[in-house]
Amino acid sequence: MNIVVIVLAAGEGTRMKSDLPKVLQPVAGRPMLAYVLDACEQLSPERRLIVVGHKHEQVLAWLGGDAGTVHQREQRGTGHAVLMTEPFMGEFEGPVLVLAGDIPLIEPDTLKTLVDIYNRDRPAAIILTAVPEDPFSYGRVLRDEAGVVDRIVEEKDATAGEKAVKEINAGIYCFDRRRLYDALASIKNENRQSEFYLTDVVAILRSRGETVLAHQADADEIMGVNSRAELAGAEAVMQGRLRRRLMDNGATFVLPETTYLTADVQIEPDATILPGCWLEGKTRIGRGARIGPGARIIDSVVGAGATVQYAVLNDCVAEEEVDIGPYCSIRPGTVLRRGAKAGTFVEIKKSEIGKGSKVPHLSYIGDAVIGEGVNVGAGSITCNYDGAHKHRTIIEDGAFIGSDTMLIAPVRVGSGAVTGAGSSITKDVPPDSLAVERSEQKVVPGWAKKRRK
Ligand code: UD1
Ligand code: CA
Repeated sequence: MNIVVIVLAAGEGTRMKSDLPKVLQPVAGRPMLAYVLDACEQLSPERRLIVVGHKHEQVLAWLGGDAGTVHQREQRGTGHAVLMTEPFMGEFEGPVLVLAGDIPLIEPDTLKTLVDIYNRDRPAAIILTAVPEDPFSYGRVLRDEAGVVDRIVEEKDATAGEKAVKEINAGIYCFDRRRLYDALASIKNENRQSEFYLTDVVAILRSRGETVLAHQADADEIMGVNSRAELAGAEAVMQGRLRRRLMDNGATFVLPETTYLTADVQIEPDATILPGCWLEGKTRIGRGARIGPGARIIDSVVGAGATVQYAVLNDCVAEEEVDIGPYCSIRPGTVLRRGAKAGTFVEIKKSEIGKGSKVPHLSYIGDAVIGEGVNVGAGSITCNYDGAHKHRTIIEDGAFIGSDTMLIAPVRVGSGAVTGAGSSITKDVPPDSLAVERSEQKVVPGWAKKRRK
């Protein structure tokens, strides 16, 4: 599209009281700026300029370089920020879309509509407006008797009468390039904040007899995030959207408001998300899986028909029909093959649990490779760490690990072998044999009865 997009991301965001630049504050796990840039991308603009300034190192680090960025050294207001972009406009003649980096809920279609109206009617400027329930803190749109946009007044500069106006400036505008920079040359900082307001361009254009149009958008969508409370508000709207999208795709949510999602989570049809789940990062939930109640799943793949309850899964794979929990921690690098089980109070790290193998109760499995059809008895532990190094445990197909076995790695239990309950296994166990390591039981007849006397 023949358009230049300018994203304002240089402001300090004082009201956030944060070490993180405001535009990097996350909503559903992604920086606000990411949503704004994605929405702009949908317009396929000729050029996109991002104005950076406050803590720009952090913003540039997130962007992965300074390509397409404009440095506003001193943050002297939104008008000043746009003025900084003039040298980068080159020979471009055409519409310039300006928007803030703190409007994470903006939908690409709304931007498209704004630009379409601009292209159809060719005004000097068109501004996006909204009528939120509470207009507080936004600039108010003042219209003349004929209903034509006259100027924008900031909350801090508004009279009581102006504050009563319900229509607000969304901070999203489309301008004619020439007339924008001509008007910017005339703005002053004579206001309560001593800033150069981009919004003053409206009054300047009008005083020059130019046309300024307005288009009204949905108030939720244009919500500007300036404080933690507004961040929470945007998060709530975004969570609703993400859930809605996944439900439309066939997932069931029981008590949907109790699930937290990040933006890229995928859930296949007929999966059920029970109350109290956190699904984050690159997590993918397979068809018909039952997740929760109470699960936190980060960057993990859960296969079709699997169940996970009261468990934390991080960077792992649980294949089809796997059964996890309750009370279970599955840590990075773990793969549970089809039909495997990790039961109650079980921790597994960087291990493979073979097809149909079971670790049902109270175990720690780390740096292990477990074959198919293995049963690990209650309370068994792979002693993988000697204080300096980590060592591997290998348990081959069909082995049976007796309860309370300590597998002192490096060690291998051969296929079909059995370890006796309570054994500390320090040497490899050949296939199909029994390894038992414990002192012989002593029986003292009558001892207990004597003690009772
Ligand atoms: C701005 C508008 C207000 C509108 C609201 C919509 C102005 C003067 N006011 O107010 O009318 O209702 O947005 O959300 O424009 N920024 C810079 N450099 C600066 C100052 C700000 O790049 O020197 C950036 C900020 O990072 C932010 C955006 O511009 O992304 C808007 O600034 P902010 O301070 O949030 O303006 P508001 O007070 O919200
Ligand atoms: Ca703002």
